[in-house]
Amino acid sequence: MPDNRTIEAKSGVTLLDMARSTRVSIRTRCEGKAGCLMCKVQVAGEGISPPTAAERQKLGIDSSTGLRLACQAKITASGVCDLVVTVPEDPLKAAVRRQLQQQEDDELW
Ligand code: FES
Repeated sequence: MPDNRTIEAKSGVTLLDMARSTRVSIRTRCEGKAGCLMCKVQVAGEGISPPTAAERQKLGIDSSTGLRLACQAKITASGVCDLVVTVPEDPLKAAVRRQLQQQEDDELW
């Protein structure tokens, strides 16, 4: 999400690596070292590793919120699983989308 794409992944792969292999953009600055917190995603479903100590420390949460660092969360399911990962929209892309929507709304009047 939000592009509503379905992706197949192998067990043990991080959500960040999975995203990169399928050209889903997740911004990072620390290259997967749990340092920048830019790779936050919302996860719903089963088949994902529990939060790492680094995630718990950095995010200050438990797994019940569904908030995860894509660079730390790994696929653990060995078969088919329904895991929904929502990637926040890139801020620049969101600004462009809002501007285009505003122009479209203005043209209607
Ligand atoms: S890539 Fe920086 S925290 Fe995940």
